Amino acid sequence: MDIVSELFEWLPRQGPGSNATTRKALSLIPSLPKNPRILDAGCGTGLTSVQLAHQTGGKVSAVDIHKPFLEQVKIYAQLTSLSDNVEICHGSMESLPFRKESFDLLWSEGALYLIGFQKGLAYWRDFLKKGGCACVSELSWLSGERPEEPKRFWARKYPAMQGIEENLTLTEKAGYKPLHHFILPESDWWENYYGPMAKRISDLKVQSMEYAAVLAPFEEEIRLFKNHNASYGYVFYILQRA
Ligand SMILES: C[S@@+](CC[C@H](N)C(=O)[O-])C[C@H]1O[C@@H](n2cnc3c(N)ncnc32)[C@H](O)[C@@H]1O
Repeated sequence: MDIVSELFEWLPRQGPGSNATTRKALSLIPSLPKNPRILDAGCGTGLTSVQLAHQTGGKVSAVDIHKPFLEQVKIYAQLTSLSDNVEICHGSMESLPFRKESFDLLWSEGALYLIGFQKGLAYWRDFLKKGGCACVSELSWLSGERPEEPKRFWARKYPAMQGIEENLTLTEKAGYKPLHHFILPESDWWENYYGPMAKRISDLKVQSMEYAAVLAPFEEEIRLFKNHNASYGYVFYILQRA
């Protein structure tokens, strides 16, 4: 197993978020049919997929490119007696194996950036039924004030990162009407993501020079967020197919 997988497979989530935030985003959707069909794109280890299945009683297709994450989704769905409601799909969220207009709700937490915010939304739009909604969380600048250090860091790691207003415009260009948006609380970064990540790194980095070198940028990212979380964060965008 590679070192990055050793880090991420151990985490409860592979990005900032929480069940409370998933429920909050869900509560902002105007309406959902009974037993909705939901796509969770880039589901990771599936906390969100299971939560969505539990909250809606619907059927969630949990898509991810990393097979070991999907094995965890499967086990978690079994443990929560939701196997019938969570279908795992190994593959890329850029070439989905579903028919057009199959989903009532499209969900993606912290994964859309991997295929491009506007590009991914535009591609996924066709898989939504008419009037269906999309809820996506995306790393965003929170104000016009962008201090040098995070600006330099994110210019390297995620040069396409935008501010909230710019992202809202991009959602419209991708064929959606923005309904709501909100910033994830700081606790969503620490409790299920950076907190466990910091602990895992301190256990792993003493294994060898290679471990320490591969994990150092993640430690840098955690330190950066501690110092600059007023200037950037994750934002949930709740959208409706226009
Ligand atoms: C930052 S993690 C977020 C995971 C999860 N949604 C969460 O919030 O914990 C991004 C996820 O996208 C997956 N991923 C990366 N590229 C992908 C692709 N092209 N298609 C499907 N999944 C992909 C990764 O394996 C990973 O599970």
